[in-house]
Amino acid sequence: MDATTPLDVKEHFDAEVQKNRVLSLEEWESKWVTRNIGFHQEQGHQLLKKHLDTFLKGQSGLRVLFPLCGKAVEMKWFAERGHTVVGVEISEIGIREFFAEQNLPYTEEPFNEIPGAKVFKSSSGNISLYCCSIFDLPRANIGKFDRIWDRGSLVAINPGDRERYADIILSLLRKGFQYLVAILSYDPTKHAGPPFYVPDAELKRLFGSKCSIRCLEEVDAFEERHKAWGIGSLFEKLYLLTEK
Ligand SMILES: C[S@@+](CC[C@H](N)C(=O)[O-])C[C@H]1O[C@@H](n2cnc3c(N)ncnc32)[C@H](O)[C@@H]1O
Repeated sequence: MDATTPLDVKEHFDAEVQKNRVLSLEEWESKWVTRNIGFHQEQGHQLLKKHLDTFLKGQSGLRVLFPLCGKAVEMKWFAERGHTVVGVEISEIGIREFFAEQNLPYTEEPFNEIPGAKVFKSSSGNISLYCCSIFDLPRANIGKFDRIWDRGSLVAINPGDRERYADIILSLLRKGFQYLVAILSYDPTKHAGPPFYVPDAELKRLFGSKCSIRCLEEVDAFEERHKAWGIGSLFEKLYLLTEK
């Protein structure tokens, strides 16, 4: 893997312990109901902010996908720069909160290509959030993307579903793409997840045949709230995947 690791963290954790862990869509939806949404970052993702120019490469009018978007404030960053943002999120609460908290008027309508799904669109027209499972996307045509920002997505997917997820992600990328993904490294024997531990080797296994993989940065992401997970360290790694 074409990766630099600024911090000398050895990957010695046993990823197998999380391999059969499954969270249902209902469990995710109930996290929103019970406000168990510690993953949400009100100020947005600081590593994305730092590497935004590398990610955008000065290009305009890009289509940017946020898989498993929650109410990520970064969606507004891209829209304000004139890009088109598409998010996919199972929780209608999360989607409504995004528009309300960002003071963006929106419309909603059924998304007929996927039974039961809805699409919420900003009135300005450049943010569309689909309320459905990411695994339903192959039934629909939402177009291809120049950029994907994947934070809290690959790490939230049940480990047994990662290949299916990677196939969907790869099918949505258009020529010249940049796929930026944040993964987490911690001892998975101490915390069941999500978020799940995604080893570097797993990224290579899932995307290495189609993508060049470069580590942009690795940071100590341990916060007070992580003590409750029973872990003593947590590192976040930002990888940029491009066409091979
Ligand atoms: C860890 S959160 C991350 C949200 C967002 N990316 C962020 O950075 O704040 C994962 C989100 O994915 C949603 N989710 C989980 N499984 C999903 C699926 N299969 N399809 C669509 N959304 C899903 C959850 O409701 C939750 O909002």
